[in-house]
Amino acid sequence: MTATADISAAQSAREEELIQTVVESFSNAPDDRLRTVMQALVRHLHAFIRDVRLTEEEWNSAIAFLTACGHITDDRRQEFILLSDVLGASMQVVAVNNEAYANATEATVFGPFFDQDAPLVENGADIAFGAAGEPCWVEGTVTDTEGNPIAGARIEVWEADEDGFYDIQYSDDRKAARARLFSDENGGYRFWGLTPTPYPIPYDGPVGKMLEAVGRSPMRASHLHFMVTAPEKRTLVTHIFVRGDELLERDAVFGVKESLIKDFVSHDADEATPDGRDLDGHTWSSARFDIVLAPADV
Ligand SMILES: [Fe+2]
Repeated sequence: MTATADISAAQSAREEELIQTVVESFSNAPDDRLRTVMQALVRHLHAFIRDVRLTEEEWNSAIAFLTACGHITDDRRQEFILLSDVLGASMQVVAVNNEAYANATEATVFGPFFDQDAPLVENGADIAFGAAGEPCWVEGTVTDTEGNPIAGARIEVWEADEDGFYDIQYSDDRKAARARLFSDENGGYRFWGLTPTPYPIPYDGPVGKMLEAVGRSPMRASHLHFMVTAPEKRTLVTHIFVRGDELLERDAVFGVKESLIKDFVSHDADEATPDGRDLDGHTWSSARFDIVLAPADV
């Protein structure tokens, strides 16, 4: 393969002239932002093509790959989010849009398994709804960056069952291991979920094939998803991770941040639960996650 540095001045000029022509084709776009984004996209795409001296066969493969991503995507399967996630693009967008602010809780990837119609529950409820897994008591507070409690914050939680699947990956329309609840008058919240377990992102499609081809694992570190919203606060999309999980160092979607790794304490079956719930001889775990929301305008 010829390196870009090795091409003739005439060839280089031809390639650069094409870039200018394409960039200028967007110059009359009435929307400034759209023009900026499209022209930058063209510059970076062409730079990539020239940098690796992309072959026609490779470009056709890329188009076939994206076509396959489209074909496997439906209401339950979102291959493009997986692609964005494994390329680190999702985390880069999170980084660009969620600058660190005071002691506000850090954000991480949204992922493809959110369901906006999660069941509404009271504090203290069991959100497993029959999903398999070890019960896990999760509690914490929602405050602003000054430490003031935020009452009525909307908290969405969702997680995989112990077999590594979210409810929407089953074909029976179940709603399980997800819920929506609101912080109480003191900003507190609590629920019974499941002790998070590691799971692979769906790898039976084009993204899985790509990971295999490059020798990467589809495994995600164990985690529990949160999305927290409150008036005049920046919406927080995040997870908490399990301290000690060996996958923390090689999460397939680059979502782990040190501040989001929490202690999930294991409890024997005969240990009293925080709310007196009888777990019928099962072991359980507990975790605390205090959520700090940044102001919306930062
Ligand atoms: Fe997840």
